[in-house]
Amino acid sequence: MCGIFAYNWNENSIPFLVEGLTNLEYRGYDSAGVFGITKNGKIFLEKATWKVSNLAWKVELNDKNYKSGIAHTRWATHGGVTELNTHPHFSTNERFFIVHNGIIENYAYLKEELIKKWHKFYSETDTEVVAKLVEYMFEKDLITTISKVTKKLVWAYALWIIDVENPDVLIGTKFGSPMIMWVADDACFLSSDINALSNHCHEFFTLEDNEIVVLENWKHKIFNLWKEVNREWEEMSQEFATAEKWKFETFTEKEINEAPDVLLNALKGRINFEEKTITSETLTELNELDIEQIEIVASGSSYFAWVTASYWFKELAWMPCDVRISSEFLYDTFLPNKKTLYVFISQSGETADVRESVKIVKEKGCLTFWLVNVVGSTVAKMCDFGLYTHSGIEIWVASTKNVIGQLSVLLLMALSFGSKRNLQIKEVRKIIWEIEELSSLMKIQLENTKNIRKVAEKYSKYNDFFFLWRNLLFWTAEECALKLKELTYLHAECYATWELKHWPLALVWPGFPCVALNLKWVLEYKTASNIKEVRARNTTVLWIITKGLDNSELYDDIIEVPETSRILVPFTPMIPMWLLSVEIAKILWKDVDKPQNLAKSVTVE
Ligand code: AGP
Ligand code: GLU
Repeated sequence: MCGIFAYNWNENSIPFLVEGLTNLEYRGYDSAGVFGITKNGKIFLEKATWKVSNLAWKVELNDKNYKSGIAHTRWATHGGVTELNTHPHFSTNERFFIVHNGIIENYAYLKEELIKKWHKFYSETDTEVVAKLVEYMFEKDLITTISKVTKKLVWAYALWIIDVENPDVLIGTKFGSPMIMWVADDACFLSSDINALSNHCHEFFTLEDNEIVVLENWKHKIFNLWKEVNREWEEMSQEFATAEKWKFETFTEKEINEAPDVLLNALKGRINFEEKTITSETLTELNELDIEQIEIVASGSSYFAWVTASYWFKELAWMPCDVRISSEFLYDTFLPNKKTLYVFISQSGETADVRESVKIVKEKGCLTFWLVNVVGSTVAKMCDFGLYTHSGIEIWVASTKNVIGQLSVLLLMALSFGSKRNLQIKEVRKIIWEIEELSSLMKIQLENTKNIRKVAEKYSKYNDFFFLWRNLLFWTAEECALKLKELTYLHAECYATWELKHWPLALVWPGFPCVALNLKWVLEYKTASNIKEVRARNTTVLWIITKGLDNSELYDDIIEVPETSRILVPFTPMIPMWLLSVEIAKILWKDVDKPQNLAKSVTVE
């Protein structure tokens, strides 16, 4: 959360900074600010609430040579969405300007102490405390001061600081929050992630916790406990975030439309499609280890993908599989088990509580595995083994195509573990063949959206929804409900149809429609009779049903999905349900790519 970006040195920094912020906007869009400084110490400070375009508009006509600068797009943690709370923040003497990603957990105590020393605060943010502390503790030079200031902070932070009296220099440091750096011919950039200026640069490196990076006239030095360190450059091997929307109205729709390719991309180089066999070296290596069970840690849509996969691990590989929400895993009692594979799944690879959970497991010497989309991200670097989902950059907030990429790799893992146990090779081949077919079926789903738009018109008039499911469709239903809530802000709850009679039925009335997932091979006859109980209470039912599975007396509206084998059933409702959420969001005039209050990567606890 929060995108921060810094530039030093040759041309006017402001246009670069605004471009960088635009590419980082998915990290937070509550407000944005930019600070630039000329070689002679003349400063430029501009802030705007909400979107980066509001800031871009304000700074459009600036033509000064601000050679160095820092910029920030905010996801507010402390203090409301106001210009005063917008970064960059500054010290009382207006000498030190600062941007921050993270939370200073002990800021209230520090603020109280600084107020006693006559410092005046203008914002409600935790970040302002750091600016004041730098002024209060300043001695000799900024590097010495920063290393003392950071000892007082209870993290997390990535901080970029400029001293107006020494305008050639820009300093960055971090603990917990991400910071990457790259250099062009005559400039250095620091950023929260590689998307900020990925179309200008092709190599980058990641700063480690407690390191201080000093940029001066586009040269950089990195210090760790006063020792200068060298970093290996990493290649940027991923599609750029600035990719066009093509013919789509929103990035979210573009990303949903990429799902059929993502499904197969995730398997490329890991499967021999001709022979229908698994060739992944990582999975072969995993199979040689003594692993008896899997414990999975994730959040949001990544969590839902995993719970679906836990059924596959049990059904195809006879492996016990426990799935945990990362924020709860982090503070629960950890019982290390050397025969458990601990798997961490994250699209961004930066989710704070996933990252911290990896540390806990690693400290106990247990085996860690990552499944991540963003190449080079923190979680990918921390674990022992891992696989990328290769979904391509997912820019905006709703995770869609990457869920398909995650499910695809997870199914492959289950098949691989299964083939070491009792799963017949012919069954593995059949499922691989079906996955290839599924990609074509998804393309057909994406072409037939007329009915979805019609259904969206009707259901956009309701405020509350029940999503009903059984068995293997549990987490598909949860994921579809999540997308509806995230994109439309309407209320939805998920229940097993069986559970209805125990109490949720009390809420059912004609104005509270049910979205029932009833697909072939997943207790379809039992679900149908449970829906009869709902219909008997005059409730409207939108049925997501396998083509040909006729229960016409039961539904008011239907969205048909293609028939697959039981194992692949969780994939088929996703595309129409995501598109339905997008359509309802558009009818209700919601910003599909930037849902209110959210940000793409959750880097603060
Ligand atoms: C869901 O559409 C997302 N907005 C969100 O819930 C996301 O899945 C979650 O924050 C986890 O992110 P990660 O996969 O990058 O760790
Ligand atoms: N805590 C800071 C603020 O509220 C930064 C937020 C963040 O990095 O998400 O302004």
